[in-house]
Amino acid sequence: MAEATAEQLAATTINDDGIVPKAEFSDRVPINSIISRADGGSGLAGKKARVGGWVKTGRKADKDAFAFLELNDGSCPGNLQVIVEAGLVAGELSQVVPTGTCVVLDGELKLPPEGAKQKVELRAEKVVHVGPVDPAKYPLPKMRLTLEFLRDFVHLRSRTNTISAVARIRNALAYATHTFFNKHGFLYVHTPIITTSDCEGAGEMFQVTTLLSEADRLEKELIHNPPPTEAEVEAARVVVKEKGEIVSQLKSAKASKKEIGAAVDELKKSKDTLSKLEERSKLKPGIPKKDDGNVDYVKDFFARQAFLTVSGQLQVESYACALSSVYTFGPTFRAENSHTSRHLAEFWMVEPELAFAELKDDMNCAEAYVKFLCQWLLDNCLEDMKFMADKFDKGCVDRLTMVASTPFVRVSYTEAVEILEEAVKNGKKFDNEVKWGIDLASEHERYLTEVKFQKPVIVYNYPKDIKAFYMRLNDDSKTVAAMDVLVPKVGELIGGSQREERYDVIVQRIKEMGLPLEPYEWYLDLRRYGTVKHSGFGLGFERMILFATGLENIRDVIPFPRYPGRADL
Ligand code: 4AD
Ligand code: MG
Repeated sequence: MAEATAEQLAATTINDDGIVPKAEFSDRVPINSIISRADGGSGLAGKKARVGGWVKTGRKADKDAFAFLELNDGSCPGNLQVIVEAGLVAGELSQVVPTGTCVVLDGELKLPPEGAKQKVELRAEKVVHVGPVDPAKYPLPKMRLTLEFLRDFVHLRSRTNTISAVARIRNALAYATHTFFNKHGFLYVHTPIITTSDCEGAGEMFQVTTLLSEADRLEKELIHNPPPTEAEVEAARVVVKEKGEIVSQLKSAKASKKEIGAAVDELKKSKDTLSKLEERSKLKPGIPKKDDGNVDYVKDFFARQAFLTVSGQLQVESYACALSSVYTFGPTFRAENSHTSRHLAEFWMVEPELAFAELKDDMNCAEAYVKFLCQWLLDNCLEDMKFMADKFDKGCVDRLTMVASTPFVRVSYTEAVEILEEAVKNGKKFDNEVKWGIDLASEHERYLTEVKFQKPVIVYNYPKDIKAFYMRLNDDSKTVAAMDVLVPKVGELIGGSQREERYDVIVQRIKEMGLPLEPYEWYLDLRRYGTVKHSGFGLGFERMILFATGLENIRDVIPFPRYPGRADL
């Protein structure tokens, strides 16, 4: 076999005999295309490859004659073992050994010595790049670091095995989501992130305003450049008057057009100066207020109060009531001061909305979607899932298999409360009291799904007083057609409902909840004009990842977690 030069290697993108195909749009072979093959890469022995990655562990051997590096490029959980001879490194061999060092190498894949755990290794022939690391300063040394510790380094933690596995699982779930909804004829709709309607009516919205920064800017500007005094404005008024008089005099003296024109120009200029001075004299430091003392949002960026969305549901409903089956998938924001392992201030939600669909259809859709996600991870992400099972939660792969293949239990809220009351009677202790009318606490939800049924449970028909205004009132006038999907490890994964499509009823519900009608007028239009039965739900994307991976804290399954007191980067 002819030896390929590094240049030839770099130029080759097709499966040339003797050379492992490179990644498209990149100059190297992804490590997964070597070691994630069915044969572990052994079939590639003898072939040339350029690889790049970050050193997981490195050690020098044979009196510093060469180094063994475990190289990872994020394409899979596994590392490629690389052997680098001292002569190949421009400086000291110790340069390539520290954890975190980036190296790009050309070399030949070889079968390792008998008994080695890897199926193939790369013997370097050329070191193309070294991005060194000072081990005394690198924040992520080669030792087992807790996930909590890693939260202080969100910009570097993606280099760890766990966070990179979570990133691949998260990516797979996003792709699976689009695949599922596309397959079932749903249209992907981008709902706004900035909104003026409070979807959940819970008042947990972050405000979007430029009033504060404007006030800051103005205050600084007024210090450097104080507003004109009343005397200065008066003086400008006098100038306008004088210039006006000159124009009148010229006109009555029948002066030439040119002379009059020049005087009119002067008058215009003085009027301009006056109006600018008047405008500036009105500037006051601080937030603009109305006469009644309230903030004057007309002066704000959108000329009204605006917020970050808590859910894209209301807007996506307007598309469902035209395009039938739609979904939105985007970031949502909640200013709830929750310090739990299940809440974030910024999280992603998948929200399908189906016209011509009742609560039962909604539940069927939610169940099919969750099952599809589980099966997808088993089919496409098994290596990462096995890593999770090995390191964090032994049962996570079995749980996916179980959920993908077992029908979800469905119980009404009333039945659920009876089950919990029965449990209390039999000695089970909950921190929160159980009685009809309560909002189920996380401990109740987890009891139902983890202890009682040991599988996903859909609880439906909740008391209307604990649910949002848009949920459809049932005939009993006490409950609404709501449903929550509860899963082991997490509790509530999905919240959804059939929507109230009857104009009079929804107006009544908005009033009952003490919400203002005005911001919802557009939403009411969907009931005024061509109303239709429709239903939808929201799946908390990070909760789904928690459920899949078995990790304990939601802050570890989103790349850049935001929670009270913390928004790094
Ligand atoms: O139950 P929620 O509040 O429902 C809605 O927002 C509806 N508008 C959805 C719809 O019908 N289109 O939220 C839906 C899901 C919850 O079940 C939970 O999984 C997740 O979003 N969630 C959170 N995830 C992380 N951090 C938070 N603070 C969350 N709040 C809700
Ligand atoms: Mg909910």
